[in-house]
Amino acid sequence: MPLNISLAGQVGLVTGAGTPYGIGRSLVIQLAQAGAKAIYACDLNTSHFDALKQDVKDTGSDCIVEGALLDVSSEEQTVALLKKIVKTHGRFDFFLCKRRVRELQNWERAMSVMTSSCFYAIKHGSRAMVVTSEEKPQPSGNIVLTSSCAAFLGAYADIAYTASKNAVNGLVQSGSVQLSSSNIRVNGVAPGFTRTSILTSSKTAEDGSEYGLKQTTKEIQGNHEWFFERAGLRENRQYYYNRLQEAEEIANVGVFLASEASAVINGQTILADSGFTAAATKEACTGPVPVVTPLELD
Ligand SMILES: NC(=O)c1ccc[n+]([C@@H]2O[C@H](COP(=O)([O-])OP(=O)(O)OC[C@H]3O[C@@H](n4cnc5c(N)ncnc54)[C@H](O)[C@@H]3O)[C@@H](O)[C@H]2O)c1
Repeated sequence: MPLNISLAGQVGLVTGAGTPYGIGRSLVIQLAQAGAKAIYACDLNTSHFDALKQDVKDTGSDCIVEGALLDVSSEEQTVALLKKIVKTHGRFDFFLCKRRVRELQNWERAMSVMTSSCFYAIKHGSRAMVVTSEEKPQPSGNIVLTSSCAAFLGAYADIAYTASKNAVNGLVQSGSVQLSSSNIRVNGVAPGFTRTSILTSSKTAEDGSEYGLKQTTKEIQGNHEWFFERAGLRENRQYYYNRLQEAEEIANVGVFLASEASAVINGQTILADSGFTAAATKEACTGPVPVVTPLELD
């Protein structure tokens, strides 16, 4: 059977997609390239939706991209948007949850933005996915939640962020079981350190209001370099695990999980960190790891 990463004719929603460069944004572009019919790109940051629509168009895709203001911590707003999508298109097929809030002292806000939002995706996204129509005769769907490498190691982030992402892993496991009789899969992707606008956007998005970013992409990228250096990603670059992930690479995993190419994967959170967590103690125990010597061809 050939590899088939196609979302032809499907309609869905991507949260955290209003960023100038980030995982949600890359997902919209790649889902459109995979043939999606309509994508609702949601965020509190509404200033980059026009550029995103243009970027999708430039790829040659005729996917309809709608920018939508959505505070993902609001159950009411989430349900209202899902109803609008199903009424407009007669179907709902994928829900990719990608938003994030800064490492907060505010436990409640962290849990509501990063965990409750994923619960709403399961609770209400699934109900939209089982609506059938001429366009979509059978219930089906894929929910992809964003966890984090912080759910796999205690030292990546603060307590609220780490706990909220561990809860996301639990939602993936339990959600996959609870939705298994409805032909809906639930999976997660846990990015490692990824080049996005996260440190800038999270600060700005904290209070849940609509906003726009004035800085250029270059300025935003500059805001983040200190963090990657501090995390050790600029050292010992010969090790594969010290590479920085690109948003497009994480989006590849999201599109795979949303497509039938991953039909056998359900209830799993894929750690996409190039091996950084597996190498947590770096050279401390193994010493320097030598490069493999080439096979001699005699
Ligand atoms: N970038 C990384 O290194 C990294 C590592 C691990 C996990 N993640 C996870 O990846 C996901 C995507 O983040 P990113 O790195 O692409 O950052 P990003 O800044 O590109 O995107 C995050 C978006 O979430 C939006 N957002 C924040 N609060 C919101 C709310 N209440 N309602 C709606 N939108 C809201 C922001 O406005 C922003 O546009 C997050 O869940 C994050 O925790 C990122």
